Amino acid sequence: MTVTLTPDTVAPKVQKLVAAAERASYDPFTEIDWDQPVDDTAYFLPPEILPLYGTAPWEAMSEAERIEYSRHETASLCSAGIWFENILMAMVLRHLYDLPASDAAHRYLLIETGDECRHSAMFGEFIRRAGTPAYEVDPWLRFGGKVMTNIAGRAAGFIAILAAEEILDTSNRATMKDERVHPLSRQIAKLHVLEEARHMSFARSWLEAVWPELSPFDRVRAAALAPAYVFGIVEALVNPEVYRTLGIEDGTRIARRNPHHRRQVKDGLGRLVATLEDLGAITPVSRPAWIVAGLI
Ligand SMILES: [Fe+2]
Ligand SMILES: [Fe+2]
Repeated sequence: MTVTLTPDTVAPKVQKLVAAAERASYDPFTEIDWDQPVDDTAYFLPPEILPLYGTAPWEAMSEAERIEYSRHETASLCSAGIWFENILMAMVLRHLYDLPASDAAHRYLLIETGDECRHSAMFGEFIRRAGTPAYEVDPWLRFGGKVMTNIAGRAAGFIAILAAEEILDTSNRATMKDERVHPLSRQIAKLHVLEEARHMSFARSWLEAVWPELSPFDRVRAAALAPAYVFGIVEALVNPEVYRTLGIEDGTRIARRNPHHRRQVKDGLGRLVATLEDLGAITPVSRPAWIVAGLI
């Protein structure tokens, strides 16, 4: 088996990211005020980000119901975040397993794993305080996630990591700035944005440096698997249990087909798609899969 060492061209970037982590790493249990009540005095996500926004069930809700719905969607999103960070840490640790301590990214990847540990602990704390069920990601997606950690390969793995981080970053940036949103949600979103910036920067630099060096098999495998992985991540943004719990009939189908939600997803993936097109990781053969999955 070949070990993909971190290319020398990425080393200066990695040093900068380690220095940034020394300056700016946050403990959510001291940075965030967990004593504030998780009450429905404000939205927990900007309304425009909610999957049902603008649909008939949304129009039928009172303001109080919309806020309650936003609290459930936030708990569901935190749960999807824990699910994905778990996959991501497994993939990063598998990569680390093969790296000597002298590799340029060895320390950085341990920092990234530590960041994700703290984020998942933070998401879990929100869920425990949210007064909602601890929504679990759909069993099929969880099964797919398990398979994925075993067959992804490094390149597809880093594409999936970047996809999840880019989508969540778009909604986190909107959340942290929005004064209609509950301060607890805004604090969580801000902490996540600050630390995820380095993860996206690393994944992008690593992919750009490694892609041209991959074997044809690894390149085809990554190009073929990427749309399936990204589709799975997007599916996890709408959890059927939320609609069942709140008694919103046909909510899952309506949310997934909501043109506004589809547009949000495509916008969130815009930078990833541009990066992959530049690399040649979206090929004429794989492009239809991205289109059919509603990702571009
Ligand atoms: Fe994270
Ligand atoms: Fe991350």
